[in-house]
Amino acid sequence: MKTALVTGASSGFGAAICRRLVAEGYAVVGTARRGDKLEALRAELGDNFMPVVMDVTEPASIDAAFAQIQQRCTSLDVLVNNAGLALGVEKAQQANAANWERMIATNVTGLALVTHRALPAMVAANRGLIINIGSTAGSVPYPGGNVYGATKAFVKQFSRNLRADLSGTRVRVTNIEPGLCSGTEFSMVRLDGNAEAVAELYRDVEAIRPQDIAETVAWVCQLPAHMNINSMEIMPVAQSYAALSVARNL
Ligand SMILES: NC(=O)c1ccc[n+]([C@@H]2O[C@H](COP(=O)([O-])OP(=O)(O)OC[C@H]3O[C@@H](n4cnc5c(N)ncnc54)[C@H](OP(=O)(O)O)[C@@H]3O)[C@@H](O)[C@H]2O)c1
Repeated sequence: MKTALVTGASSGFGAAICRRLVAEGYAVVGTARRGDKLEALRAELGDNFMPVVMDVTEPASIDAAFAQIQQRCTSLDVLVNNAGLALGVEKAQQANAANWERMIATNVTGLALVTHRALPAMVAANRGLIINIGSTAGSVPYPGGNVYGATKAFVKQFSRNLRADLSGTRVRVTNIEPGLCSGTEFSMVRLDGNAEAVAELYRDVEAIRPQDIAETVAWVCQLPAHMNINSMEIMPVAQSYAALSVARNL
């Protein structure tokens, strides 16, 4: 039976990816900080879903989680580095520095350390697939994107640098970069629980759904072993690019 580790499994993309991979016949380890949400997913998905509490910002928590995971799975076929968050939409000059630190700790350091733990066994087995969840924010600058976008630019370049280091092995790396997505907790977290602002963000827009990202992950997972998708940028049809801004009379 193939095995997958999905971080950030307690909601949104991560939960949808776990549901989909279990349906595809994988044994899935789902991690997050909220154990109660993971237990609810286990009640839904059964024994092929293993909940493990792991805070990616705490190295000791990553170590403890991997010790638990290694008791159940000798090797991992797929790692989905999905845990991540955005905090705030203020411009850099008004932003909260603690929010910046948490985004970097989660989206950059956390993702790198989880990868560091999983990678040696994949290389030793000469197989495996790492799917990182980046964002269009890693390529497209926008006001208020400052550190969040920069963390996703890290994910983009880290994914490509992993490909360079893994040259000569059969370990694959894919960066999936979604645009606007609804049906997750992402915007409630980013906008600090402001339900009105969240409703306004998604008003009259058919956004990407978590199942769409799960579908994409499942597709990447079933590709022939000689194919590597380096990156995929996915937006709802309703979202597109706009012109660069020009300030007049400066
Ligand atoms: N929604 C979008 O529009 C969008 C677009 C592009 C990219 N993304 C990216 O997609 C990923 C998933 O986002 P989502 O939309 O599904 O949001 P979500 O519903 O808020 O899910 C985020 C997940 O990350 C986990 N997480 C956060 N901090 C963590 C930590 N310190 N340690 C372990 N787990 C942690 C959360 O679990 P706990 O709180 O239980 O720990 C949760 O399961 C993120 O990397 C996000 O940046 C989202």
